[in-house]
Amino acid sequence: MAESIHVPLASLLSAKEHPHAFSTPSRTEPVRAGDPAAPVPEFSGGGTFFIETFGCQMNEHDSEKVVGVLLRRGYRQVASPDQARLVFYNTCSIREKAAQKVFSRLGEFNPKNNFGRDSGKVIGVLGCVAQQEGEEIFERAPWVSLVCGSASYRELPLLLARLEAGENRVTGLETDTDETFETELTRRNHPFRAYLTIIEGCDKACSYCVVPYTRGPERSRASESILREVRELADVGYTEIQLLGQTVNSYRDPSNRHLSFAELLLAVAEVPGIRRVRFMTSHPRDMGADIVAAIDSSPALCDHVHLPVQSGSTRVLRAMQRTYTREEYLEKISLIRGARKPISITTDFIVGFPGETERDFEETLSLMELAQFDSAFSFQYSPRPHTPAALMADPVPEAEKQRRLQVLQERQRAIQLQRNQALAGQVFEVLVEGASRRETQWTGRTSSNRSLNFTSSRTDLLGKYVRVRVTGAGPNSLTGNESIE
Ligand code: 5AD
Ligand code: SF4
Repeated sequence: MAESIHVPLASLLSAKEHPHAFSTPSRTEPVRAGDPAAPVPEFSGGGTFFIETFGCQMNEHDSEKVVGVLLRRGYRQVASPDQARLVFYNTCSIREKAAQKVFSRLGEFNPKNNFGRDSGKVIGVLGCVAQQEGEEIFERAPWVSLVCGSASYRELPLLLARLEAGENRVTGLETDTDETFETELTRRNHPFRAYLTIIEGCDKACSYCVVPYTRGPERSRASESILREVRELADVGYTEIQLLGQTVNSYRDPSNRHLSFAELLLAVAEVPGIRRVRFMTSHPRDMGADIVAAIDSSPALCDHVHLPVQSGSTRVLRAMQRTYTREEYLEKISLIRGARKPISITTDFIVGFPGETERDFEETLSLMELAQFDSAFSFQYSPRPHTPAALMADPVPEAEKQRRLQVLQERQRAIQLQRNQALAGQVFEVLVEGASRRETQWTGRTSSNRSLNFTSSRTDLLGKYVRVRVTGAGPNSLTGNESIE
């Protein structure tokens, strides 16, 4: 059964928003929640651990589970690798740069390096780089003793016990298991928003993407089990739930209730105490009218859909194996924009995919104008191991990729500014997530996932829902005052 521990407000002003686009790695604040009955492995130097997380919200949430598993067994979390006996890096390999980060961290422990740290530590590589590189990590960094992919985290205590028993190197590299969903304890990091993975892996096979390889085939979690955890989260005070999955809307209930994704959304939204339900990331192919109708009908379902398009050129979309054309994507946009309530649409773009011509790029820009995204994440194409695109001819030169990215980002910024400015004068309910040093300044998030910085003379607003009138707008956030009507 899942449990949650409420922790004090983390540094929420730097909270990361995109499931895949985190640039700053995060370190979870240490808390102690050992179960006295659980056996504590005898590590000399104490059962202390440090974990740093790179990558998406799914990785963040996986780390919450890893921390829970370790705390449950009596390990104690510490704030720096220097203090820790066990050092874990939960890694991301979506783009080359993300994957490189962990190797620079590991380099700090190289015994050959004069500045190398005490090598009496157990160094573990978790997550997507672990899954992608497997035992090769031991070749590259022989001082690593544990390599474990996301589907094997429940085995972590066992793997650690094997190290204690004298083995030098242990691995957990299964991908095809749904064991990941049920964890005895999840040490949630965010005080107001609870993440919950409802579908693992991916069956879509986009030609640029490493995820099907690092996270394995698609597996959905049974709806009863999801709803049980949501009720438990509501019981401990969470009001906002974010359902996670690489293709969250491809969810298929494996239980005999056979809830559709839209039905699941409505069922989660009906759990007493839950006021906001978000979900990420949706695949355009599985974005149906029933999902839009559900958002329209339930005030608790947030007015936001993250719907990565990647490119506006049907030719490039075909090479990417995205399974939709430019026109089909634009139809999905019309479907969402046709809802009774305004629903924000955000997206992801990749520029410089192999063979992308200037004309293809122009089509991406024109789609961007037509769709009027509320926000967009854009990336230069980065070839990834084991992916079909890595073998494609006609790479776009680095400088050209950079140029296209810059052009795209500038146009998107202008669109966002215009869309945000159009909201001036309107009143939105925000969930207050942070306070600034100045006492009257707060920051919250609207249902449409906009960041809204506002003034209020009230104190103690963290975690509360407040109505705010918008008075100003920038491309990435709104400003306003608490609205007292
Ligand atoms: N290169 C660049 N960007 C990528 N993404 C996924 N794979 C790659 C890659 N190989 C981007 C996509 C995806 C987001 C999570 O990361 O835009 O939606
Ligand atoms: Fe998340 Fe792994 Fe994909 Fe990175 S590679 S975005 S960590 S699933």
